[in-house]
Amino acid sequence: MSASIPSLASVPLQRLDLPWLREADVQVAVLRLDLVDPELSGNKWFKLAHHLTAAQASGASGLISLGGPHSNHLHALAAAAKRYGLASVGLLRGNPQQTATVEDLQRFGMQLHWLGYGGYRERHRADFFNSWQERFPGYYCVPEGGGGLAGARGCTPLVDHVQTRLAAISWDDYEGWWLAAGTGTTLAGLVIGEAQRRRRMVHGALAGPPSHGVADEVSRLLRDAGTADSGYQLVDASRGGFGRFDEPLARFLLETEAVSGVPLEPVYTAKAMMALRLYVRGGYFACGTRLIFVHTGGLQGRRAAQAQLDGLLR
Ligand SMILES: Cc1ncc(COP(=O)(O)O)c(C=O)c1O
Repeated sequence: MSASIPSLASVPLQRLDLPWLREADVQVAVLRLDLVDPELSGNKWFKLAHHLTAAQASGASGLISLGGPHSNHLHALAAAAKRYGLASVGLLRGNPQQTATVEDLQRFGMQLHWLGYGGYRERHRADFFNSWQERFPGYYCVPEGGGGLAGARGCTPLVDHVQTRLAAISWDDYEGWWLAAGTGTTLAGLVIGEAQRRRRMVHGALAGPPSHGVADEVSRLLRDAGTADSGYQLVDASRGGFGRFDEPLARFLLETEAVSGVPLEPVYTAKAMMALRLYVRGGYFACGTRLIFVHTGGLQGRRAAQAQLDGLLR
């Protein structure tokens, strides 16, 4: 296999200097997973790593997975499949449309099947993948978003990695984590990692409404991992719905980027950062608290969101 594998060793931890952090005397360092690889950016590579190992171990000739027309997950999966010399099939939500993400998927060689909205809702059925496996024998099915215990376990090495990077920012320790949560898989991976270390608190900023079942999914993942169902907190960062943007969010995103130099996107990372500001300003964290903010990537999705962001600020 000649695939170029993204390496955690290259991922920097950078101090974040923002006025609202200085005012509250809370320190934040950003784990720049967005920089791990131009195509396999953010938490995606880590969530996929064990799935890819399992696919290779089973001798699979291709991967099948599903997502929306702007999906960061399908984007990373298609890029990874191409690198690993595997075929890929993407099952897409909704009706055919040509987004920047879809163009990339086609460029990566992914075969696309549009399921409509009703067809996509069927994904929760236990036998959902059966007909696709019959159609593509020997393909390995990766759950939506690269989730499941394999996805979570792929994220646990982030805990040890941060430890090795602390000296570079003159920290000897930190008190907790803050990151965007979609399915809660990445958060569960950190909780599993922390359970074997310092049990630092992991805060998940929900990109979608709390009714989307993330709490149950995290509990299930921790139970499957044999880890206590504790050590984390979910906060609602969704601002009225998954993928919903408003003017304060658009302004916050652009201002934060300009001041910090860290690129953000509106669906996950800017919402997570904005929720952090709310908690910091609300006095939730004691003076002197040090937090790791995980930049979970997703910047490829910014292309589709840009017109909406511009519209909000016009
Ligand atoms: C950019 C980005 N950040 C965060 C998340 C949330 O990750 P998780 O589903 O592991 O909670 C996702 C995907 O779901 C994502 O694409």
